[in-house]
Amino acid sequence: MNPSRATAVGNPGWYANPAGRSWQCAAAAQDALAFHGRLPGYAPTPLIELRALAEELGAGRVFVKDESQRFGLPAFKVLGVSWAIALVIADRRGLRSPLDLPALRAAATDDPVTLITATDGNHGRAVARMAALLGLPAHIFVPQAITPAATAAIETEGATVTTVADCYDVTVEQAAAAAAADPGAVLVQDTAWAGYALIPGRIVEGYETMLAEIDTQLAAVGVEPDLLAVPVGVGSLAQAVVRHYRGRSAGGAPAVLGVEPDSAACVLTSLLAGAATSVPTGSTVMAGLNTGTPSALAWPVLHSGLDGAIAVADAATVRAVDDLATLGVSTGPSGAAALAGARAALTGPGAGQRRAELGLSATGTVVLLSTEGRTAAATTAPGRSRS
Ligand SMILES: Cc1ncc(COP(=O)(O)O)c(C=O)c1O
Repeated sequence: MNPSRATAVGNPGWYANPAGRSWQCAAAAQDALAFHGRLPGYAPTPLIELRALAEELGAGRVFVKDESQRFGLPAFKVLGVSWAIALVIADRRGLRSPLDLPALRAAATDDPVTLITATDGNHGRAVARMAALLGLPAHIFVPQAITPAATAAIETEGATVTTVADCYDVTVEQAAAAAAADPGAVLVQDTAWAGYALIPGRIVEGYETMLAEIDTQLAAVGVEPDLLAVPVGVGSLAQAVVRHYRGRSAGGAPAVLGVEPDSAACVLTSLLAGAATSVPTGSTVMAGLNTGTPSALAWPVLHSGLDGAIAVADAATVRAVDDLATLGVSTGPSGAAALAGARAALTGPGAGQRRAELGLSATGTVVLLSTEGRTAAATTAPGRSRS
């Protein structure tokens, strides 16, 4: 079946690939879940049923995965960062599984490295937190438009912060150059490009923990998911979601819907073009999704296995932040994009066709990945970068 290239009236953009559900790939590695379980403070994040949304979305049941508190940080990002950094240290010192924090800390003390990354907030804060836990220095590069609150949160973790007078993509380049120039440094970036794939691949593996938790939580209430809505920046999280469901031998194959800001829809644009494409980025409240280039590792997986992609406006996600808050779920603009995107895809003009392309019936189960907690910047001041 050919991907649909229709742009529905009232939607900034829509892509569907009904063949995505039958695409298969190698099973995702499961090692991160046990590692996370050994870290202090591990607890599965809540999967909350929101009955009030089921009727509106035309679904049987709607659940939200609430990542507002993950190891004491307000976003899911630390799942990937912690696993990737653990493997960096393990590789350097020849540590074997089972990895745990005391062993990693001892190895890091014997062989210290500076952890470098680029960020607008959540990712860099997670790198800084892991560095502090391991007694390692962290150097975090941020774009000029980062909010003072996000910078302060990174500095609170003890990291050195360098502000780059440019956008996120240029900030990544500068962080990569700084790491390349320092033999005692390692770049821990959550996006891949030619020649830089090992660490972003491990970050994606770390996200698997969230998906394994969802499996357990849905099994406990006796349902399988039919549709997952995923906020998309460079696409690494969506890559993990697609791999999780397309790589397992048991269970159904839910549809996966990627949601991006309409001003930074690099994955949607790439899918519509049929080739990885960069887009210029501007301002959006969805700071964590404000990226111009898909991850080189994510792109082929999303091209083959993502079922749908949609772009949403800031106003739609701001409304979703408020609606989820009313329902008792703390979320920020990037996290609430999942609800905004599900609404845009499943309701309104053209919804019949989009629902058919996603294979969602009125009795289906929808899971929204709310990937962050409410942010200080949340609903009013547009940011320009991503986390
Ligand atoms: C809160 C939040 N949600 C979703 C994403 C998207 O993740 P990815 O860039 O892997 O697509 C990010 C990325 O930073 C984020 O901060």
